[in-house]
Amino acid sequence: MAASDTAARLLVGAPHLSVGILTADLGRLDDELRRVERTGIPMVHTDVMDGVFCPMLTVGTPFVAAQRTSLLKDVHLMVREPLEKVGAFVTAGADIITFQVESASNPHRVLQVLGDAVNANDPARGIVRGVAVSPGTPLEVLVPLLDDLEYVMILAINPGWGGQRFHPGTGARLARVREMVAAAGCPILVAVDGGITRVNIGEVAALGPDVIVTGSAIFDGSSPVEANAAYMLAELTAGATRARPSEG
Ligand code: DX5
Ligand code: ZN
Repeated sequence: MAASDTAARLLVGAPHLSVGILTADLGRLDDELRRVERTGIPMVHTDVMDGVFCPMLTVGTPFVAAQRTSLLKDVHLMVREPLEKVGAFVTAGADIITFQVESASNPHRVLQVLGDAVNANDPARGIVRGVAVSPGTPLEVLVPLLDDLEYVMILAINPGWGGQRFHPGTGARLARVREMVAAAGCPILVAVDGGITRVNIGEVAALGPDVIVTGSAIFDGSSPVEANAAYMLAELTAGATRARPSEG
């Protein structure tokens, strides 16, 4: 099953949540991953920041490798010049690798390298290739890349700074990406990442993304993960029904 098959399977069951793991209790990583697995959520999202492309420094390949899970490892690279770094994340077991288009001097080359990569979890699966765009980046940068990727992630905040509000133009950007993907005729998943909480997930789901990334709404340090996940999944489903009434 090639990477595009993995993406196609995710498309069939869309929309999905991808759970940001960095706000989990990392001292009990295995337990936290088991709790997410039991919710039926298919993806775990790791935010890799190098402190150079963006001011925060987070985790790297050892942390991705330490995740012993059946969840799809959705790795979001916010690092300068990812070309030399993506191989190590493939080896660490990433299933989906999304890099910031702003971070690569040659994003097409990064996608080519990922297109030849073998998935360390299952050689038949390949790597789902993603590009992420920050709120201030013109979407036209995606046009020459669409034939070489399976995943586009629209950031609703600027990566690396906390406490930001969900960018109000995200809905229009999502609609524009949908048009571009339809014109390209490629099975590309469209995700939204950043600033998605209990309060706004319903309206974000109603915008019609295939994947919504959310971390602190699941691992909030007070309510049980299972309860948070159940709430977010219910809101996701309700919002998606508004976005896709025919499939409701
Ligand atoms: C922002 C990251 C997001 C974000 C998600 O730079 O890419 O993945 O941290 O986490 P929450 O849902 O906690 O904002
Ligand atoms: Zn992210």
